[in-house]
Amino acid sequence: MIVPTSGTQTLAAALAEETGSPLATPTFERFADGERLAAIPEFTGETATVVASTVADGDWIELLQLQDAVREAGASEVTTVIPYLGYARQDQSFKPGQPVSARAMARAVSTGTDRVVLVNPHETAVREFFSVPVAIVDAAATLAEPLPDLRDPLFLSPDAGAIGIAETVRDAYGSGATDYFEKHRDREDGSVEITPSDASVADRDVVVVDDIIATGSTMSKSVAVLQERGADRVVAACVHPVLASNAVSKLRAAGVERILGTDTVERACSDVSVAPAIAARL
Ligand code: R5P
Repeated sequence: MIVPTSGTQTLAAALAEETGSPLATPTFERFADGERLAAIPEFTGETATVVASTVADGDWIELLQLQDAVREAGASEVTTVIPYLGYARQDQSFKPGQPVSARAMARAVSTGTDRVVLVNPHETAVREFFSVPVAIVDAAATLAEPLPDLRDPLFLSPDAGAIGIAETVRDAYGSGATDYFEKHRDREDGSVEITPSDASVADRDVVVVDDIIATGSTMSKSVAVLQERGADRVVAACVHPVLASNAVSKLRAAGVERILGTDTVERACSDVSVAPAIAARL
């Protein structure tokens, strides 16, 4: 049985269809003091696949409660699919006194599951924090599916860490060049500085590809450079469209023609599904 959290309803339904598994209907309640109660009243079966993208802190609570609920209801084998793994960027203690948040979360998740499936985690090394087997799904190629015909395309990553994803999207699209900018993020105030490469973008269509768009600062600063240099159409593509706060407005103001993401985080721009890629690993 596929068991969604409140934030993964559409993806979990697609996954149920892909795998031919029944889809559970959990319930989500809040007590007067703010505590949550995610439950699975009609769960039956030996195996459970809990699907939980951990964008907000409440998503972690739902994940842990549903893991426990399916065990309580008799599941002997539990797989936890985390399409978007939050806290993955705090994978080190960057300053004295800070936690390794990704490790803390991974330890908690590991206690309630037999295996974990992650989709494009920020760093694949995060798998070492789990004490159960971890499968990593690379869904970046799906981002090429909805792209229109592009003129002399450039697939650009806003930092060196995402160049692999940009290359995967280019390969799936079938033609075009790749390049990357350099990024520096100030750990005190979170501000982003972009050092562009000398890529020639005039009159070209550019697809800027990143793993995550969160505040949109990285993407909008990169796009501003492209606009200054006379790029034609600019598409902002990412696996995980977190799009917090005013990110969409920032991207539009910077000159992004289209925002494109997958359904690891369910947003208006989630035009492609990672369900087939996950199903292949279940
Ligand atoms: C970080 O290195 C990631 O790859 C993304 O570039 C980052 O998470 C984007 O964050 P934001 O949209 O807040 O700039």
